[in-house]
Amino acid sequence: VTARSAADDLAGRRVVVSAGGTREPLDPVRYLGNRSSGMQGLALARTALARGAQVTLVAANVALPVPAGVDVVRVGSAAELREAVREAAAEADVVVMAAAVADFRPETVVGTKIKKDDDGSVPSIRLVRTVDVLAELAHDRLRDGQVVVGFAAETGDADGSVLEHGRAKALRKGADLLVVNAVGDGKGFGTADNDVTVLDGGGDVVITASGSKDEIAHTVWDAVLALAGPRSA
Ligand code: CTP
Ligand code: CA
Repeated sequence: VTARSAADDLAGRRVVVSAGGTREPLDPVRYLGNRSSGMQGLALARTALARGAQVTLVAANVALPVPAGVDVVRVGSAAELREAVREAAAEADVVVMAAAVADFRPETVVGTKIKKDDDGSVPSIRLVRTVDVLAELAHDRLRDGQVVVGFAAETGDADGSVLEHGRAKALRKGADLLVVNAVGDGKGFGTADNDVTVLDGGGDVVITASGSKDEIAHTVWDAVLALAGPRSA
């Protein structure tokens, strides 16, 4: 654990990390968003850089400082994120989808500010699904031998535990690794510490980890290296 951050074990690898949360516009001044801060994605970028990787960060509305040496592509919406990730992924050995990507967006973006009506009526917003970027990357395999990693924030519910939901998602997504993060009860979003279980594409546990977002990030890179073939160039 102490030696790994000193090692240049990601040297020669090109990695893409998405971070933050997308914003889906409603009108020129409003959007549907989420609470993702981008902290886990930034930790992934920082630790990959420290381990020698060439890092591209696709940052969706990240307000935190990005480490020097990381190539940053700033995006707003899920559609913009999809385009930027796919472009960077075409040249990447590893893609990690740590961003909170909207599942739905308003069907139409109104060109002018939505106003209140005098009669007290309330507008309804029609939503449509966005593209699942992770599932698409896992399906398309833009580059030979590319390792595709997803994150899943889960709470247990009446239908299953955190791990059961994680397993189902791993099977659904087709990614090589799915990092399952228990959220709720003060865990996950915006907090310093995480508990994660890394699953493979078949839903089996590869490794578990708890600790800071940097420690989680190192564990993710360890799991990626265990899967990745020899360096490409
Ligand atoms: N993801 C994505 N594109 C989307 C939605 C999610 O690439 N449109 C990615 C996230 O970046 C994450 C993974 O899919 O790596 C899991 O996201 P999550 O929200 O947990 O899963 P969903 O499939 O959206 O399922 P649900 O929100 O219904 O639990
Ligand atoms: Ca989702």
